[in-house]
Amino acid sequence: MAKFIVEKSGPLRGEVTISGAKNSVLPILAATLLCHENCEIEAVPDLNDVHILCSLLASLGAEVEKDIENNYVNIKADKIITNHAPEELVRMMRASILVMGPLLARTGKAAVNLPGGCAIGERPVELHFKGFKALGANVEISETGLVTATTDGLKGANIYLDFPSVGATENIIMAASLAEGTTIIENAAQEPEIVDLANFINKMGGHIRGAGTDTIKIDGVPSLRGTRHSVIPDRIEAGTFMMAAAITRGSVLIRNVLPNHIKPIIAKLRECGVEIFINDDEGILVRGDVAPLISTDIKTLPYPGFPTDIQSPFMAFLTTVQGRSVVMETVFENRYMHVLELNSMGARIKTEGKCAIIDGNKKLHGSEVIATDLRAGAALVLAGLVAEGETVVSDIYHIERGYEKFVDKLVKLGAKIKRVE
Ligand code: UD1
Repeated sequence: MAKFIVEKSGPLRGEVTISGAKNSVLPILAATLLCHENCEIEAVPDLNDVHILCSLLASLGAEVEKDIENNYVNIKADKIITNHAPEELVRMMRASILVMGPLLARTGKAAVNLPGGCAIGERPVELHFKGFKALGANVEISETGLVTATTDGLKGANIYLDFPSVGATENIIMAASLAEGTTIIENAAQEPEIVDLANFINKMGGHIRGAGTDTIKIDGVPSLRGTRHSVIPDRIEAGTFMMAAAITRGSVLIRNVLPNHIKPIIAKLRECGVEIFINDDEGILVRGDVAPLISTDIKTLPYPGFPTDIQSPFMAFLTTVQGRSVVMETVFENRYMHVLELNSMGARIKTEGKCAIIDGNKKLHGSEVIATDLRAGAALVLAGLVAEGETVVSDIYHIERGYEKFVDKLVKLGAKIKRVE
């Protein structure tokens, strides 16, 4: 099994270019199932999750042409040969459930195995099904966990989401795009990735308004056409590199980032004393080498609140600043798996329910740690950059699911990190 060996590195310096957003490209790739024609997607990051979803689309009958070196994928889902997503692919990636909405809308049937819980919590998907049912689908779950949704024709509906779930909002948008009549999603997720998906479907000839607010209106259309689309930059990757600059007290220019998408990260880093300069043409310069850095409190929330995906990298950073910080995780119920690992590196973090209390100014030391999930893994790599000695991070397949060329990008900034088999 591959591992990362991370050594204490000096302050990171230089510039890094952010890749296309993982959480945007996955629903966009799924949405290509909505039409018969070629969909050309640009700025596709070279990630394991992207490869898994492309395999899934191909297994359903789509023609998938990848030129991943140039971050380009062309998909033509002219013929759908099955509406049953292979279980082994769904198990490899929870986001596979995103094919359900488009399959149901396009063919009248979708069968997908329940993705199940994961390291960061139970992650139920009942809101996806609530949406499909409201649109007129029949949804059945077998004893083995196979979910089958069927319909004679979806019809627009008013859907209130009990929680602004990103995946449920995306699945409902995709299904409603080909439904008869108008759908209104209330308490919808407002993430930039929802807006990117809506823009993509609108380019295909869809009629979606209000994406990016809590009320999304979708006028269904009889069919959609092929288009070309470039994926937005990954705000979570950008945030991770901002944290890498801050934790190493370095100075890094982050290119290809949309500052509006990362307002809470910018605000919280500034509260800690990190200097951030925003230049719309150049990017965002993050300087952790100017002033002494101090603690802050964060509370994760659905967008536009502080992103849960940056909670663990931020926590790694907070272990190194002066003072005590409190983190409250409200989006996922079990997203503190990295705490044990950080404590094994000399951090002093206590958790109680949704809260974690971090005593700062700790001298971290290298240790053998496990990347329990994607973002926890990134946090451990960041901690390894400032820990005395060597940090060995295992289970790095989690990290490689979501960060394109992570090691290369860090090495270019001066980090001492290598991947070993
Ligand atoms: C997406 C992101 C993930 C991010 C998360 C929250 C992708 C591929 N992944 O995941 O990186 O951490 O948003 O910003 O875009 N929930 C329910 N019932 C449901 C659906 C969700 O209770 O039917 C709960 C989940 O258990 C979780 C919370 O809602 O506690 C957020 O989940 P959701 O917004 O759906 O996240 P994902 O779409 O899975």
